[in-house]
Amino acid sequence: MSKFVFTSVGRKFMMSITGLFLLMFILVHLTVNLLMIFDDTGALYNQGAHFMVSNPVIRIVEPVLGLGFLIHIIWSLIITWENWRARPVRYKKATRSEATSWASRNMFILGGLVFVFLGIHLYNFYIKIKFTGSPLLEEVMVGDTNVHNTYLLVSTLFKESILYCALYIMGGILLGLHVTHGFWSAFQTIGFNNKQWLNRLQWVARIYAVLVAVGFSIIPLYFIIRF
Ligand code: HEM
Repeated sequence: MSKFVFTSVGRKFMMSITGLFLLMFILVHLTVNLLMIFDDTGALYNQGAHFMVSNPVIRIVEPVLGLGFLIHIIWSLIITWENWRARPVRYKKATRSEATSWASRNMFILGGLVFVFLGIHLYNFYIKIKFTGSPLLEEVMVGDTNVHNTYLLVSTLFKESILYCALYIMGGILLGLHVTHGFWSAFQTIGFNNKQWLNRLQWVARIYAVLVAVGFSIIPLYFIIRF
C-alpha cells in the first residue's frame, strides 16, 4: 500500500479519495453556513456552529480534513509538475479536442486560487475562533450553553466590507469551477469509467458545482442586499 501511493496511479487515486472527502466536507460546511440567512438573531447559526465544534465525530474528522487538504495539495503539485515535464512540446497549447472543458484544463490554476482564498478565509474566522480570539466572539447563550458568537464575527465582516463580500463570492465561484471537473474525474479514477456512468456523473458534478457556487455566494449577497 505504501509503495502504491507513490506510483502515478496511486497518486491520482489519493487525489481522488482526498478530493471526495473534501467534497463531502464542503456540503456540510455550506449547509451550516446557510443557517445564517434564515435567522438574523444569529441563534440558529451559533447553534449549528457550536454543534460542529462540540460534536465528537466532527472533532475526529477535523485533523483528517486538514491532512486531506495537505495531501490533495501536495499531490496536485507533484502531478502537475510531472505532467508538465512529460509534455513533448512544452509551449504547445492544448486544442479543444485534447481537453474537454476550460475547467479541466485549468484545474491547477483554479485549485491554486481556491487555496489563496482558503488562506484568507481561515485567517478571517478559523484562526480567530481557535487561536487569537476577537472582541466580536464574546460568548452568548444558546439554550443552556455558553457559545462563541460566531454569527457576529462572520456577519460583521460581510456587513462592513463589500470587498470581502466580493472575495467570498469569487471563492464560491472558483470552488464551483474547480469541482465541476474534480467531481466526476475523482469517480472516474476510482473505477466509474464506463460511458454511461461518466455521463451521469458529469451531470451530478454540474449540479453539485452550481449548488456550491450559488450556495456560498448567496451568503455575502444576502448581507449586501439586506443590511
Ligand atoms: C460564505 C462562505 C463561507 C462562510 C461564511 C464560512 C464560514 C466559516 C467559519 C465561521 C469557519 C470557522 C469554523 C470554526 O472553526 O468554528 C470556517 C472554517 C473553514 N472553512 Fe469556511 N466559510 C465559507 C466558505 C468556505 C469555502 C468556499 C471553503 C472551501 C474552499 C471553506 C473552507 C473552510 C475550512 C477548510 C475551514 C476550517 C475547518 C472548519 O473549521 O470547519 N469555507 N468557515
